[in-house]
Amino acid sequence: MQKAGFLAPEVRPVDVPKRTLHTGASMPAIGLGTFGSDHATPSVVAEAVRGAIEAGYRHIDCASVYGNEAEIGRVLAELFASGLEREELWITSKLWNDKHDDAAGSCRKSIADLQCGYLDTYLVHWPFPNFHPPGCSVESRSPDAKPYVHENFMRTWRQMEQLVDAGLTRHIGTSNVTIPKLELILRDARIRPAVNEMELHPHFQQPELFDFVRAHGIEPIGYCPLGSPNRPERDRTPEDTSPLEDPVILGIAKRLGVHPATVCLKWAIQRGQTPIPFSVNRRNYVANLQAAVSEPLTAGDMQAIAGIDRHCRLIKGQVFLWKAGQTWEALWDVVGEITPA
Ligand SMILES: NC(=O)c1ccc[n+]([C@@H]2O[C@H](COP(=O)([O-])OP(=O)(O)OC[C@H]3O[C@@H](n4cnc5c(N)ncnc54)[C@H](OP(=O)(O)O)[C@@H]3O)[C@@H](O)[C@H]2O)c1
Repeated sequence: MQKAGFLAPEVRPVDVPKRTLHTGASMPAIGLGTFGSDHATPSVVAEAVRGAIEAGYRHIDCASVYGNEAEIGRVLAELFASGLEREELWITSKLWNDKHDDAAGSCRKSIADLQCGYLDTYLVHWPFPNFHPPGCSVESRSPDAKPYVHENFMRTWRQMEQLVDAGLTRHIGTSNVTIPKLELILRDARIRPAVNEMELHPHFQQPELFDFVRAHGIEPIGYCPLGSPNRPERDRTPEDTSPLEDPVILGIAKRLGVHPATVCLKWAIQRGQTPIPFSVNRRNYVANLQAAVSEPLTAGDMQAIAGIDRHCRLIKGQVFLWKAGQTWEALWDVVGEITPA
């Protein structure tokens, strides 16, 4: 009988570093992102998920708003039918902003689409209930957009807690929150966030938030770990910088004979976050997984990369602003307190 592809991986899942969450659960310290932006169709992303699992990935970062969970689910169902055990995978999905009052319905739909029985992590994708047409310009604004209102967020969080009670997800988590918001969430949560998904790459290291979440037993999941080089034009501003073009990253990559992406991922894993690089290109997603198991960076490399933080947030979230005349910084509580309504 022909062996299923996932039984002969490029990287053995057992060799991939793991994070232990506050529940004791073990999560692979690198995952595959699945946000195809404007350039990768749902079926292309789903085939990348198949190839990535065959290559040894066991952690997949999904979201209903990425519009491809049903296609990914069809691939997962085929892999389960050929012998992959559900328990071998770590599957994340996220509650989109238009469903803050129906977490159960949304979670059940993601589980049904993904054909995975339960989730390992279910995140509140953004702390704002604000949504907009897919692909709209960053300048567009929903007339119904609202600020962060903690009581409203906690109403959503209570629903998230019930999903854990009901066995629909093993953990719940936050995404795109700040320290002032997390302080309130941690004060009021019955079930605390197990992970926090946040932008993290060498040009946006967020040391205060990174340290805060780790000090509170919350695992930082790093999105855009390569600086999202192919993000849509609408998500770019002239001030943006690229970690893949940084001379320090390029120098280390040249010395090691690897792509700069490998250096960014090694740095991320060694620093203590869990990167979730996206790729639909087999050579790239295999190289990204190999970065997790090959020779680590030196202490000197780690120190040099710590020194190149450009505080350059790429995903600014402007579409979620709730008042005319605001700038994106209002979403991120940059003065150290929750931006007033
Ligand atoms: N929670 C949130 O609000 C949030 C926000 C943004 C993103 N995310 C998650 O984070 C994931 C990753 O973020 P991202 O996709 O924006 O950015 P990213 O992972 O930093 O960059 C992905 C891009 O890099 C290219 N790439 C990947 N590996 C490469 C390699 N080894 N060499 C050269 N190029 C490589 C890919 O192109 P190829 O396909 O051609 O390889 C892809 O276009 C998303 O897919 C999503 O799951 C979450």
